[in-house]
Amino acid sequence: MLILGIESSCDETAAAVVRDGREIVSSVIASQIEMHKPWGGVVPELASREHLEKIEPIVAAAIAQAGISFSDIDAIAVTQGPGLIGSLLVGVCYAKSLAYSLGIPIVGVNHIEGHVYSVAFENPPVEYPALGLIVSGGHTNIFHIPEEGQYKVVSRTRDDAAGEAFDKVAKMLGLGYPGGPIIEKLALLGDTSGVKFPKAKISDGRPDLSFSGLKTAVARYIRENGIAPMTNGDEPSQEIKDLAASFQAAVVHALVGTLEKLADELQPKTLIVAGGVACNLALISAAEDAGKRLGLPVYFPSKHLSTDNAAMIAAAGYRQLVQGDNAKLDMTADVTMRLQNVDNEEAELRQLHVKYRL
Ligand code: KG4
Ligand code: ZN
Repeated sequence: MLILGIESSCDETAAAVVRDGREIVSSVIASQIEMHKPWGGVVPELASREHLEKIEPIVAAAIAQAGISFSDIDAIAVTQGPGLIGSLLVGVCYAKSLAYSLGIPIVGVNHIEGHVYSVAFENPPVEYPALGLIVSGGHTNIFHIPEEGQYKVVSRTRDDAAGEAFDKVAKMLGLGYPGGPIIEKLALLGDTSGVKFPKAKISDGRPDLSFSGLKTAVARYIRENGIAPMTNGDEPSQEIKDLAASFQAAVVHALVGTLEKLADELQPKTLIVAGGVACNLALISAAEDAGKRLGLPVYFPSKHLSTDNAAMIAAAGYRQLVQGDNAKLDMTADVTMRLQNVDNEEAELRQLHVKYRL
């Protein structure tokens, strides 16, 4: 089955052709990073206008690179949510009209589930139950996945997503946008124990995450030590490198520590670490170490599939399509779409409550 995937939830316009949910035939991504850079983050109005300009040529490029024509596509999978409303609508409306004109099925895909499926390529098939840490600029969650397509949130961030924390800390230091890759590079040259940060404590004791305290601690450190934000062309000081290394280590420690604790509890067969932050090598190596300690395989997306792309959306859509799903043409963007369809959340949370002595 040849599926055309379409992704436009944030600042990447992407299209891909994927065969049977596991083989990328073509994948094209137009990133808007350069356009949003001067603003230090994504500007929603600019993003949707840019998607509108790019969607048609990007889909055409994905079809051309696959060496096929539109009539060869069997179905369309499009990101339905969560994301920016204007951005999502561009992809959803385009995908619906294309599906209608070609007379083929269409399914709406949850963007986060897309990230889960980014490991479907270049890894052995996932064995269930699995535990998935999805960590990006907009989301930071750990999902228990008892079987394919079933999700239960077992840990979530109470405030900022981890990627957002990377972006904000980079902004404070005048390092540019997006912050993750820049901080990772500086951290390689810094000392992870250079700055001591307090560990986030969740007052109700759930295995949740929080990054806003860490962000505030970085801001305080910058202020108290009189660190000036860098301007273009500055050589970063050792102090900034140490700060980057210590901040990154604190984020990785919180993410992997929580993943490991939950894996111990829930006994999955596979660990999945995906999302934009999953290309961070410090995170990869800490998660691999945790996998070794637990005796579990850890699957990551390859670098080009860790940030937003349409191949992962097609892979997630494949599961729905083989079940015979076909969205109606009144399907629309769902900004707060959730990925949780296991109905015993309460019971499960109570159990975790007991486990963590609340
Ligand atoms: O998944 P993604 O492309 O978009 C969302 O769905 O949010 O993730 C983008 C996020 C940004 O916050 C960016 O700073 C972060 O992923 N990121 C990284 C790295 N590369 C991208 N964070 C840490 N280390 C990296 N190497
Ligand atoms: Zn994403």
